Amino acid sequence: MEKLRHMMNPLDFTVEELESLFDLAGEIERDMEGYSHKCDGKILATCFYEPSTRTRLSFETAMLRLGGKCMGFADASNSSAAKGESVADTIRVISCFADICAMRHPKEGAPMVAASRSSIPVINAGDGGHQHPTQTLTDLLTIRSLYGKLSNFTIGLCGDLKFGRTVHSLINALSRYEGIRFIFISPKELRVPDYITEMLRQKGIHYEEVIKLEEIMPQLDFLYMTRVQKERFFNEEDYIRLRNFYILDKEKMALAKEKMFILHPLPRVNEISVELDDDPRAAYFKQVQYGLYVRMALILTLLNIK
Ligand code: NCD
Repeated sequence: MEKLRHMMNPLDFTVEELESLFDLAGEIERDMEGYSHKCDGKILATCFYEPSTRTRLSFETAMLRLGGKCMGFADASNSSAAKGESVADTIRVISCFADICAMRHPKEGAPMVAASRSSIPVINAGDGGHQHPTQTLTDLLTIRSLYGKLSNFTIGLCGDLKFGRTVHSLINALSRYEGIRFIFISPKELRVPDYITEMLRQKGIHYEEVIKLEEIMPQLDFLYMTRVQKERFFNEEDYIRLRNFYILDKEKMALAKEKMFILHPLPRVNEISVELDDDPRAAYFKQVQYGLYVRMALILTLLNIK
């Protein structure tokens, strides 16, 4: 029997395994029809204890496009969690019903606890401010597709680098590739956590921290914008003070390279002006499309379907 595998962190897969996953996503993109019955008879459970539109619908669409079916909950207040059931018990129950589970949870590590008790593959669909591996797979596939490779570029990550789990996952994942220069752009209050800069220092990876976006704009090959994570703030005042700290607009984009791509995990609030949506460098809606292909590839890989 094949070993049960989960996806908790992008580092759970080696760089080579990720390459195969991205190749598979590429094949799916070219021939959706050819994959439309690969998961006939399979069921995906989506257990979402935290709000989501894109990630949950992306997982569900991925399974439906593979010919499988979906069930689950999008609101924990309607599930047994509201009665006090533990994640460990919930996943044991779900394991009796479904073939694979995608779980989002406000508590860091909850999907990991679920995985340790599960008899089906569990995918971490975001755990608190910690990790969001499938968004990272999406981001890596997007970068690879737009830039042709996953090495030798400068990426600016801008906004809420403290609470943004997509940022934490992406830095983690990119730290394994050659020649990546990180520029962290945030107000002091929302700096990237020390454990991440410490990891970069130990690996001898270049990073700088700045407050002003304009001054480093001309250096960037990618600009990864993020939303200020309202739900993770301890007080409303700080959120209100910081929420409009960065607004990317035409004026700032005029300072960027002609081929600098703008990425964003979405949802966007104010941080990218809608006037940029038609700029050929705006890649955030393309990212959503790549997210579907990569989730399809991940489901097939974790279910060992060739
Ligand atoms: C992100 C998340 O949930 O962390 N959204 C997503 O899954 N694409 C980013 C965010 O909520 O800001």
